[in-house]
Amino acid sequence: MTQRLYIPGDAAAVAVGADQVAAALAPHAAAKGVAIVRNGSRGAHELETLVEIDAPQGRVGYGPIDVEDVATLAPVLFDAGPHPKRVGRPEELPFFKKQTRLTFARCGVIDPQSLDEYRAAGGMKGLEKAQSLQQAALIDQILQSGLRGRGGAGFPTAIKMKTTAEAKAPRKFVVCNADEGDSGTFADRMLMEGDPFLLIEGMAIAATAIGAYKGFVYIRSEYPHAIRAMQKAVETARKAGYLGDTFDIEIRVGAGAYVCGEETALLDSLEGKRGQVRPKPPLPAIQGLFGAPTLINNVLTLAALPFILTEGAAAYKDYGMGRSRGTMPIQLAGDIKNGGLFETAFGMSLGELVNDIGGGTQTGRPVRAVQVGGPLGAYFPPSYFDTPFDYEAFTAKDGLIGHGGIVVFNDTVNMARQARFAMEFCTVESCGKCTPCRIGSVRGRETIEKIMAGEDVEANLEILTDLCNTMKFGSLCALGGFIPYPVMSAVRHFPEDFRACARALEPVG
Ligand SMILES: Cc1cc2nc3c(=O)[nH]c(=O)nc-3n(C[C@H](O)[C@H](O)[C@H](O)COP(=O)(O)O)c2cc1C
Ligand code: SF4
Repeated sequence: MTQRLYIPGDAAAVAVGADQVAAALAPHAAAKGVAIVRNGSRGAHELETLVEIDAPQGRVGYGPIDVEDVATLAPVLFDAGPHPKRVGRPEELPFFKKQTRLTFARCGVIDPQSLDEYRAAGGMKGLEKAQSLQQAALIDQILQSGLRGRGGAGFPTAIKMKTTAEAKAPRKFVVCNADEGDSGTFADRMLMEGDPFLLIEGMAIAATAIGAYKGFVYIRSEYPHAIRAMQKAVETARKAGYLGDTFDIEIRVGAGAYVCGEETALLDSLEGKRGQVRPKPPLPAIQGLFGAPTLINNVLTLAALPFILTEGAAAYKDYGMGRSRGTMPIQLAGDIKNGGLFETAFGMSLGELVNDIGGGTQTGRPVRAVQVGGPLGAYFPPSYFDTPFDYEAFTAKDGLIGHGGIVVFNDTVNMARQARFAMEFCTVESCGKCTPCRIGSVRGRETIEKIMAGEDVEANLEILTDLCNTMKFGSLCALGGFIPYPVMSAVRHFPEDFRACARALEPVG
């Protein structure tokens, strides 16, 4: 078999020079008769560009490789020889050894655009199983697995499927939400770039479950690599007969609005309208895209289906804790030493994730706060680090796990400024449909600025609390409804930052 050299084509690796490394290694590989594979990322960002070579003992990695390293690497690389940046077998590194990779099992391992490799690694078996089952039995498998939506709300996937399946209509749709707007998250992107056939298989399983003839993947425009990867993989799957006659997939590109990740605004956007939130009911499962019953799920939710069908619901449910079953691809970002994607069963504590897996801060400064769950997530202080990564445990502490993003802040962060940023974000991203969010976020930012300037601090904190309650209970969707979480958690856990009147009002940026 031809020896292969793996250089990630993933956007994060490309951002740190993977294309230049590939171009510099290409003549050396050609001279040795070695094939270059542009694989996905394995998710350890500090090792990118992680170059791997086939060796008798398995794949051997070198990282992080810059184009300047090629001169010293090329002479030893093809024999997997010694080099200061040799990291050995990636699977043996603690960052990977501690993971349970169910969804990301193939990401960074196989050639993402090879359907043959995908199938050889167990791909499409879940779809075959799904097609052998009656709709009700298929949905029951998903129910038994305990799978909940990974897009943010954690809603039981099988319930949505059942509602859509039971709706009587001549046409139904599956929509994959790949808008991935949460700060510090990149799992959807990594999966679409590194294992696109998994998402296609997951969507085909969902379509089988509900009887859909057409699926859409709504990808944010900031993900050009993922868009290309999905378009190419869809074409390949179509040529191979997995898509086409009974179910087909179309890739659609968003236009840069955070709110278009909200499922009903996403539907408006797909219909060619300005993305605005629709009141519910009707639920999209009953009346969604173009008025037809529509199943909307996040990339990671759909990508979990093939494992559940292949290995069985019990195998998936075996992982996790409480009502949070299976694994969660957690994304570590911000001031963190070992940033990247870490897939693990629910239940690992926040402190383990930040300090043991993440290695603490990159700067070496103490951690002061972490924001979990994107821009709508609460800020937790280190005293909350015993919280297990679990939907209910986070809710009990007025937080949310959302799409699994953890952003770490060191002791230089000003939490009043972060609270102001939350309100400002809401002002900019509000769809404008309801008053608590559209007007409340503007008033909220102004009130925080008064507090930061030391103006009637206690009275303004009371106004802020009142305003946050109005937004929380009066907003039409979770953008206005959840922005109070970062704001009020900052006030609750870091009160000193709101009462230090002497602090100058820093410029936004
Ligand atoms: C403002 C806002 C933005 C959202 N952005 C996303 C997103 O980028 N991706 C996503 O999957 N879900 C997002 N959601 C959640 C979706 O509305 C919806 O719950 C999800 O797509 C359902 O899929 P799931 O059940 O698989 O999680 C967002 C929700 C809100 C309120
Ligand atoms: S909460 Fe904000 S984003 Fe949501 S519907 Fe109201 S105005 Fe639109």
